[in-house]
Amino acid sequence: AGIENWTRSIWFGNQGFEYLDLGRFWQVLLIIGLFFWVLILYRGLRTRLQSEQVGNMPWLFFFSALSIPAFYAVGLLAHPAQHFTTTEFWRFWVVHLWVEDFLELFTTILVAYLFVLLGVVAERTALRMIYLDVILYSAGGIVGTMHHVYFSGVPAMHMALGAFFSAAEVIPLTFLTLEAWSFLQLGAIQESSPNARFPHRWTVMFLAAVGFWNFLGAGVFGFLINLPIVSYYEIGTALTANHAHASMMGVYGMLSVGLALFCLRYIIPEKHWTDRPAQISFWSLNLGLAWMVFATLFPLGIIQLYHSINVSYYDARTLKYIGSRGNSILEWMRLPGDVVFILGGTLPILYICFLGIRYMRSNTTTENPNEILFTELATRD
Ligand code: HEM
Ligand SMILES: [Fe+2]
Repeated sequence: AGIENWTRSIWFGNQGFEYLDLGRFWQVLLIIGLFFWVLILYRGLRTRLQSEQVGNMPWLFFFSALSIPAFYAVGLLAHPAQHFTTTEFWRFWVVHLWVEDFLELFTTILVAYLFVLLGVVAERTALRMIYLDVILYSAGGIVGTMHHVYFSGVPAMHMALGAFFSAAEVIPLTFLTLEAWSFLQLGAIQESSPNARFPHRWTVMFLAAVGFWNFLGAGVFGFLINLPIVSYYEIGTALTANHAHASMMGVYGMLSVGLALFCLRYIIPEKHWTDRPAQISFWSLNLGLAWMVFATLFPLGIIQLYHSINVSYYDARTLKYIGSRGNSILEWMRLPGDVVFILGGTLPILYICFLGIRYMRSNTTTENPNEILFTELATRD
């Protein structure tokens, strides 16, 4: 409503930042919604939490979930009446700390927890890995926030710290990619087991996709634009969009579809379950995203960077340059990928959601389901 000027209210339209933003009302509503989500999690975890120590996995899972609304709420500290330097600082607490620290940690803990529940990894091993990740993210991720504010008027110290610590993020990211490897192995072992059909095949595939996009979208494309000298020429260009889309959809989009499938697999009775839509969605989402990145955003970004270095950064961001013929052609190139993504990617998932609502089990999830949903692989320690 804000961009169409239907309303100029900062509560329902734009708040007045230089970029497209949510009205304050919607921002607060989203925060309330996220806290509500934590409340739902708490309801399910409550009895388990009472019997666990605060440093154990269920509590860590709960705390990491709590950090998601808490750190989204930090965005309320950015106010358009303040100086640009201040608003950018708080804004990137949300953008950066959210995606490169708390959500990554949430993902790690969640996946570790799932693996413990599925009997694949011993609890102690999983817990050690989580603590190691907490340390690595706290070192790299938190100070690394400064890679967003090199040029927004903060003291020069931020440039040095940001460049160094965000480069250090390669360490936890490598672990995450290695983790994806173990998903694929898990899938392969389960597939080859003669006595049980593995029910969570596509959840595991989506988790492997999370690992893949963590490597490509966050790792490779993030690092590409991470150093101050690169940022100087390309900040806020198509290479930023290239990294942002590949990592946001690739990592957190795939994660949410994978988790939704995991839950749906439990609530839909065996006789109504079908793997096919999950398979179609998996390939369509991944190919569609890869298409968008490689047919449009990445080449667009490289050409824009070339223009920025040769002509000027200012010129490379003018509407005249962005709307030029070559750029328009590249932008239209993404259309086939978008069609695959939207039709092949989302419709089958919506169909499975529909099955979930239509045939939802009447018994509660605290009871064991009738059919076996997982097999014991190993009990390593
Ligand atoms: C899954 C993880 C990640 C997600 C979802 C993500 C998402 C994003 C988004 C949405 C932006 C645009 C922010 C804006 O301008 O408003 C961005 C910018 C940026 N990201 Fe990431 N990111 C991730 C990981 C990383 C990693 C690991 C690095 C490198 C160490 C990185 C480096 C950067 C840099 C340098 C920018 C600023 C680029 C510019 O404006 O030119 N990101 N990221
Ligand atoms: Fe960042």
